[in-house]
Amino acid sequence: MRKKKRGGFLNEIIEKQDLSENIVKLVISSPTVAKKRKAGQFVVLMVDERGERIPLTIVDSDPEKGTITLILQVAGKTTALLAALKPGDRIEHLLGPLGNPTEIENFGQVVCVGGGVGVGVAYPIVKALKNAGNRVVTIIGARTKAMLILEEELRQVSDKLIVATDDGSYGVHGFVSAVLQDLIDRGERIDRVYAIGPVPMMRVICNVTKPKAVPTIVSLNAIMVDATGMCGACRVSVGGKTRFTCVDGPEFDGHDVDFDLLTKRLRMYDDQEKRSLEKYRCECHGN
Ligand SMILES: Cc1cc2nc3c(=O)[nH]c(=O)nc-3n(C[C@H](O)[C@H](O)[C@H](O)COP(=O)(O)OP(=O)(O)OC[C@H]3O[C@@H](n4cnc5c(N)ncnc54)[C@H](O)[C@@H]3O)c2cc1C
Ligand code: FES
Repeated sequence: MRKKKRGGFLNEIIEKQDLSENIVKLVISSPTVAKKRKAGQFVVLMVDERGERIPLTIVDSDPEKGTITLILQVAGKTTALLAALKPGDRIEHLLGPLGNPTEIENFGQVVCVGGGVGVGVAYPIVKALKNAGNRVVTIIGARTKAMLILEEELRQVSDKLIVATDDGSYGVHGFVSAVLQDLIDRGERIDRVYAIGPVPMMRVICNVTKPKAVPTIVSLNAIMVDATGMCGACRVSVGGKTRFTCVDGPEFDGHDVDFDLLTKRLRMYDDQEKRSLEKYRCECHGN
């Protein structure tokens, strides 16, 4: 019989929490990853042996308990399978920590902007920047109040937290980019911006910071397959050079990213992804 490690069997779901309608938090037993991981890094996992490999950011870890926290939004079949797991279930494979950690220094005053599930990805970065002595202003946004995640957790690790919702149901009415524009227009000193969220959001944030040349780091969600730099699936163009998100990223200078190419490549498998999710939902319904 396999020995139960402290905190659970390897890759066992220890805790599950629904954060919003389609965003789920999973605490998973993974002692080595929990010990080694740094802010900005991710894991690649396979839910079952026939499943596809998907990357998810390590939002937090507890090296003592040997657990890592992932936050995922149901986007297609694999994330739907993950969201259906329960405490006690196990993930087939989980590899990490992967990717380069976020460059953390005391930059002065930094603004971290998170949108949608990107708020979860932003959390470890905000925490690490705060621990490094920065004054951290965090701006988080969602389409509506019910879809907002980690508000209290981020308030605790930020010097200032501003919440925005697209529909005005909570906080500032409007996009997170408008909140950042307002800070810049009011002459607030900003030494660095981090933007993590949907591609259109990161693109607009870069357009807001470019005229004032505020260094802006984005975390790219390119499609990944092997996550070793071999297959080329996660190819992006940064400053006119080809870079692989899995080994060169996932964070890049946002002002140099070719967002048109990224958007085009993210849509490459739209039809197959839709069919795969529909088939999975029909199968679930049939059972
Ligand atoms: C470094 C990195 C960190 C990420 N961190 C998170 C996170 O913390 N939380 C979260 O909810 N999402 C995160 N993502 C996105 C997540 O990997 C995708 O949502 C997931 O792979 C979708 O798989 P699916 O089968 O459920 O959906 P599918 O139906 O297969 O695809 C839905 C959409 O997800 C994206 N996607 C699909 N397959 C992949 C893949 N193999 N690699 C990357 N993107 C893919 C595409 O944009 C696609 O249009 C991250 C992506 C990257 C590259
Ligand atoms: S995922 Fe294959 S090169 Fe990055």
